[in-house]
Amino acid sequence: MAEKTSVRAVKGMNDVLPGEIARWHRLEALFRRSMALTGYREVRTPFVEHKPLFVRAIGEVTDVVEKEMYAFTRHHDELALRPEGTAGAVRAYVEHKVANAEPVSRWYYLGPMFRAERPQAGRYRQFWQYGAECFGDAGPGSDAEMIAELCAFLSAAGVTAPRVLLNSIGGPGTRVAYTEAVRAYLEPKKAQLSEDSQKRLEKNALRILDSKAPEDHAALEGAPTLESVLDEADKDHFKNLLGHLDALGVTYEVDPKLVRGLDYYTRTLFEIKGAKEKLGAGDTLIGGGRYDGMVEQLGGASVPAIGFAGGLERLLIATDDGEKKPVVSVFLAPMGSPATTYALVLARELRAHGVTCDVDTRGANLKSMLRRATSLEAPYGILVGDAEIAAGVVEVKDLNARTQEKIARSEVVRVLADRLAKGTP
Ligand code: HAM
Repeated sequence: MAEKTSVRAVKGMNDVLPGEIARWHRLEALFRRSMALTGYREVRTPFVEHKPLFVRAIGEVTDVVEKEMYAFTRHHDELALRPEGTAGAVRAYVEHKVANAEPVSRWYYLGPMFRAERPQAGRYRQFWQYGAECFGDAGPGSDAEMIAELCAFLSAAGVTAPRVLLNSIGGPGTRVAYTEAVRAYLEPKKAQLSEDSQKRLEKNALRILDSKAPEDHAALEGAPTLESVLDEADKDHFKNLLGHLDALGVTYEVDPKLVRGLDYYTRTLFEIKGAKEKLGAGDTLIGGGRYDGMVEQLGGASVPAIGFAGGLERLLIATDDGEKKPVVSVFLAPMGSPATTYALVLARELRAHGVTCDVDTRGANLKSMLRRATSLEAPYGILVGDAEIAAGVVEVKDLNARTQEKIARSEVVRVLADRLAKGTP
């Protein structure tokens, strides 16, 4: 006999079942609205790109590239599932020569990303990002606008008291100089560092700054600060950004240790955290920053850029209020075959008036039909049997108030459509 094997999703890759989808749709719609309000349009790039794109854009010595990429070879091409959206967006921007057509391009995206990380609450191997990239504007005003609008979006989504963390990492030259300064400072203390950081020391010493290991924190005491290596133009950019944010009423914290895990950043870096009580250490809802060198590095003109991305699952956890949404507004429970025909016709009319409804066509008894009505969270039930058909009425049950009334068949569509439009049960 063939062995019965169970089928399971890949670890860290989750199904979103229909019971959860209303909350996804709500956040997706809010995000799209927030993007439209700031002149961003959606871009859809492939889920698979040439692997070297990610290596060049994100950096060879980053966790994402070194440890987390789903890479494979097909038809002699080295490919990878996208671990993030920025590299693909820049590739598309360069490939389609968008810079020749418009001075500023504002793009957003919403879709799955793939990283072979260790799964935990809010961290998955397939996860959804909502993100955006703004090409062609080097000014600190665009940094401030992005951060302020993100705060407005998070607040509309229901995140209370998000924390904005900011830092400046300077131009591409500054990053290299600072990495070397940190390396030189830590070299004599190498033995005190965590095992991971000892490896990072030669390859990418900057990453030690956002290490979580206490021994690394101790070794970093007295290390040169980023501020000490920023040039005047970098400092000016950062100062102006803070000024704009003050004017916009955005509260922020400057965090000199914020370096972020991707190598492409220049100048402004930011993270927005929230709902620590639900997310624990994985409470970074959004991460972003400037990457003024990437377009040119990938073969385009010298075009500055800034962007961000947030994890949709994390935002769902952060904003979960436990409330359930009705699947349909009206549940029709017909008793008997003629009543089923009658209910199907009535449902068609209700739907034509924009009322969502479900007809129970199973031929089940009343009790089990009403159980389904409850599980669908429907505010109204319509009961119809031979007697109601003969009398030209239907029984309308208010399933929240647990009241029942007879309404004429000729009136019921209008009455329910009106009540639902007014939001009054
Ligand atoms: P990132 O910091 O790697 O940045 O990711 C951004 C956000 O995606 C994180 O703050 C987190 O909310 C979510 N995220 C990341 N990894 C996971 C995971 N394994 N499971 C669940 N959620 C996750 C970027 O990806 C950059 N591309 C952002 C950017 C755009 N910078 C400039 N433009």
